[in-house]
Amino acid sequence: MKIKTAVFPVAGFGTRMLPATKAIPKEMITLIDKPLIQYAVEEAIDSGIERIIFITGRTKKALEDHFDINVELNNTLLESGNLEMLEEIKKISEMVNLVYVRQKRMLGLGDAILCVKDIVNDDPFVVILPDDIILSDVPVVSQLMTQFEEYGFPIVSTMKVKEEDTSKYGIVKFKECINDRLSLLDSLVEKPKTNSPSTNAIIGRYVITSSVMKALEEINVGCNNELQLTDALNLVAARESVYGYEFEGKRFDCGTRSGLLEATINFAYKRSDLKEDLVKIIKELPNN
Ligand code: G1P
Repeated sequence: MKIKTAVFPVAGFGTRMLPATKAIPKEMITLIDKPLIQYAVEEAIDSGIERIIFITGRTKKALEDHFDINVELNNTLLESGNLEMLEEIKKISEMVNLVYVRQKRMLGLGDAILCVKDIVNDDPFVVILPDDIILSDVPVVSQLMTQFEEYGFPIVSTMKVKEEDTSKYGIVKFKECINDRLSLLDSLVEKPKTNSPSTNAIIGRYVITSSVMKALEEINVGCNNELQLTDALNLVAARESVYGYEFEGKRFDCGTRSGLLEATINFAYKRSDLKEDLVKIIKELPNN
């Protein structure tokens, strides 16, 4: 079955990036010249997604404005003859069909995903956590969708992390290797404090099916007293099947200062209009 919907949980406060996030949503922090959310939305669109559902909260008006039409700005750009930027700005508001849902309580990722239950019905969809920005040849959402079309079960994207970092992530345990990148999962655990089952961490791209939605209604709160998507997937792994897919690409945790800095440098290095300047700036850095 072809996936048409992507769900973006964007209700979180972004306390890790204060004071930047005091008055703007963390997803509106810029990576060079675009807000983080736009990279993630473009990944979805480039993967063939037709509808995006934002699960937002009280403080997220700027997000809605960013994807809305700004008539005054369009007119100003038109009058000044800046047609290239006009096209780019118009693309943002015309890119995709957007739906907004409010998450009223901050009860975790699982609770956020449950907010879209009545909108997605029983259809599968992808979940994108926009803190995780990924540089790749093929968009990671598209990589997951290709696997889903063949196997039809929920999939989490994974990557290897350092042993000492396992407590920051959902961690998977493999049961059976299907191909180079895809494995059937034995179990999943959210942020294990000790005895992590592996160093394969869940990254913020998922394919979610109706059985996961059902499991979300059955589980209790887990890690951090929140309803965890990882716990629902673990239940589905025990009952049916869940796959882990080691994506092709480099991921940056833009929810942290050093991750955002690393992303900024890597993305600038990839851009023909900035690469030369970046190299020069770095070469000219003082030694102390
Ligand atoms: C969430 C998930 C976690 C996953 C991580 C990836 O955690 O709950 O399983 O490993 O995203 O970024 P968060 O970072 O939102 O606490």
